[in-house]
Amino acid sequence: MSPRNLTSSIAIVGAGDVGATIAYSLILNPVASEILLVDPQEEVRDAQVQDLSDSTFHTNTSTNVRAGTHKEAGQCDIIVFTAGAKQKKGESRTDLIGKNKSILQSAISDMQPFASNTILLLVANPVDVITYFAQQYADLPKSRVLGSGTFLDSARLRGALAKEAGVAASSVNAYVLGEHGESQFVAWSRCSFGGLPMEIALPKDAKIDKRRLEDETRSKAGKIIESKGATNYGIGGVVARLCRSILFDEREVLCVSSWQEELGVCLSMPVVLGREGVVRGVEMGLDDSEKGKLRKSAEAIKEVINA
Ligand code: LAC
Repeated sequence: MSPRNLTSSIAIVGAGDVGATIAYSLILNPVASEILLVDPQEEVRDAQVQDLSDSTFHTNTSTNVRAGTHKEAGQCDIIVFTAGAKQKKGESRTDLIGKNKSILQSAISDMQPFASNTILLLVANPVDVITYFAQQYADLPKSRVLGSGTFLDSARLRGALAKEAGVAASSVNAYVLGEHGESQFVAWSRCSFGGLPMEIALPKDAKIDKRRLEDETRSKAGKIIESKGATNYGIGGVVARLCRSILFDEREVLCVSSWQEELGVCLSMPVVLGREGVVRGVEMGLDDSEKGKLRKSAEAIKEVINA
């Protein structure tokens, strides 16, 4: 339970597995006084509200979970957008764009006009393309419309590197950049342990198989989906963390999908995240090969936007 006096509200649009798990993470790590679940499938939505509420009664949490409308969501401090088709076995995230773009457009038109301090946080896939279109449809500054992007992939990589190197995950700084999808890549030149460059911090005989770790990170969601049909806990945890960083204006440097003026798309790069959304981008000083991968990733996202 946070010692802070919580007053904010978070709307979660889409009350499926991902939306409900985000709500659950926000109950366990409270940052808002109210969570609204919004979903046209009222029966499922109301059942999720009841089940989630049950998880609040045994503690002294003040989080109130209730059903809400799109109009009410538009007035919340954060709107987490998870609505849409989800990836099935063998499908890629980009296969979902047709359906999810029209669901997004109609939901945004139902939510407008937005409260002026709202942050729209996109989670539905393909998240970089969905974030791009949300910026087109929503009457909000681009800095207030961002996507969960590769924050989750970066967490996956951090976990794998920590295990391999035998250090705490909290001591690993590692960024997966670009698309939350096939063209993502690791900024190895900027990977550090306890703030020290990887080459210096690791024992001389440590063998880190970069190619394998990068491939495993990229394919992790697909593998989980093959076995259990969805991913929900990873994304639930990281979205709750993003909400905290925003609402408490923590100004953490985190890797999320945001508008990239030079590339003309939304993709993940580290930004300073605060109550205003993306406060600013962080210059990474990537090497030439990484810069090339970033451009390629932007091209891959553009193809889906223009398809
Ligand atoms: C994943 C989904 C959120 O990577 O795309 O688990």
